Formats: sequence, structure tokens, C-alpha cells
Amino acid sequence: VRDGSLIPRFGRARRDPSTAVLEGLHAVKHALRFGAELELLLTPDREALLALARRLAPDVAEPIGERALEVDAELFAQLAPLPPSTGAIALAPRPRADAPAVLASTAPAPVVLLEDPRDLGNIGACVRVAAAADAAGVLTTGSHDPWHPDALRGSAGLHYALPVARLEDPAALARGPRPLLALDPDGAEELDPARLEGRSVLAFGTERHGLSPELLDGAQGRLSIPMRPGVSSLNLATSVAAVMFAWRLRGRPGG
Ligand SMILES: C[S@@+](CC[C@H](N)C(=O)[O-])C[C@H]1O[C@@H](n2cnc3c(N)ncnc32)[C@H](O)[C@@H]1O
Repeated sequence: VRDGSLIPRFGRARRDPSTAVLEGLHAVKHALRFGAELELLLTPDREALLALARRLAPDVAEPIGERALEVDAELFAQLAPLPPSTGAIALAPRPRADAPAVLASTAPAPVVLLEDPRDLGNIGACVRVAAAADAAGVLTTGSHDPWHPDALRGSAGLHYALPVARLEDPAALARGPRPLLALDPDGAEELDPARLEGRSVLAFGTERHGLSPELLDGAQGRLSIPMRPGVSSLNLATSVAAVMFAWRLRGRPGG
């Protein structure tokens, strides 16, 4: 690796739609666990990174040890806007994820649809909880790249655990086999875990304004998560967590 080329290489990678920038050991760990092929893994302290990997991620400590290259700490600090404190940053190809195929899939798990999410950390938190609950995928509309490095930081690399893609053509929602359910704080129907259908698309709105009238009109149902009077709404990622785990835990004794 030529040191002089690294800063521009990481700068370009942040804007490259075919590359993922993985910031931190946890992101690298999850990406490896779910099939990422690392192109480059850099650290300012190889021994310290390997000791941390053996402690926190022993299952992937070997591939980390095989790939980690040590660079000067000053250079490492310039590879990301906020240098990862765990001393690991990596580049990997993004897997191909096809939004229409996700909508057409008959996997008996919900697809999470985020309409025009504005906060990249929130997108990452939604991906992380969707991966944990074993959703069929996370789709987004709007201008943000759901694979932006800040979103990957928020998901701790769990973008590799399920399909995550931008939905270029929202009209595809009406063509697919999955019923569209809108999550809306003003929804007339209270969320009932027992009636949450696995094959649905669960749509969540943008942070400030909620779901658009077009999406609400196209939905087969408008569900609200019950809240204490006086609370206007939940944070976007928190509402995805509440609904996905209501689905995941449905039918359990006491659930
Ligand atoms: C921060 S909220 C948006 C608040 C917006 N002012 C509104 O009234 O919809 C972001 C998204 O989280 C979901 N959400 C938040 N609280 C909810 C609740 N109590 N019931 C259902 N969905 C909720 C909705 O999908 C909402 O569009």
C-alpha cells in the first residue's frame, strides 16, 4: 500500500456507490461475519487491534489478522472525518441488492421501507435493528445513500446481514405481492402484534414530517404504536425497533 494514495483513496471510496467504508472493529466484524470480502483493512496499531479482535470478535480474529496492515497514526486519523477509536477502517465491495427483488420476495418476514429518511445515523440504527429482528430487507426512498459510511457506522456494518437498497421507483410497491402497511402516530388502528403479517412492507416516514400523503393513500392499513398522552411520536429508528420486535415476539407466551 502506498501511503500517499490512501487519503484520496478513502475520500473517493466515500462517494463510490460500489464500495463500503467500514469504520471501526464492530463494523468490520459484522461485515466479515455476513460475507464481506475486505479489499483493504488499515490500523494504526496491529497488535492492539488483534488483541481487541481476539477479545470481542474471536470468530473473525483470524481474517482480521490476515488482512490488517499498519499505517502511521497521523495518516490513519485522516482516513475518516471521525477516526474510529477501535483502530480499524476497511474498504469492501458492496453486495448487489435489488429493491424490486426484495419486494417480490416471498420470505415470510417484513420489509422495512423508510420514506425519505434524513438522518444517516438513524438509517444505520434502522438497518441494525431490522437485521437483528431478521427482516427481509430495508429499502429507502429520497436523496440519501443508505450505504453512506455514516449509515454503515450507525448499523455497525450490519448492512451485510440483509438486503439494503434504495427504491428508485416507489410505484413498484403497488405491483408487489406484499401488503403495504403505514406506521403513523395518527393511525386509526393500534398496532396488534398478533395481526402483523410477516409478508408486509412496513413503511416509516421521514423524521420531521412523517409519511407522505401519496404513501398513506396507497397503504392498506395505518397502524399506530400506542404512546402515553402528550408524547407526539417516537424517533424513527425506535419505532422500527418497536414494530419489528412486536413482530418477532408475536405469539410468545405472555407476548
Ligand atoms: C419522528 S416520526 C415523524 C413524526 C411526524 N411529525 C409525524 O407525525 O408522523 C418518524 C416516523 O416514525 C414512525 N412513528 C413514530 N412514532 C410512531 C407511533 N407512535 N406510531 C406509529 N409510527 C410512529 C412513523 O412512521 C413516523 O413517520
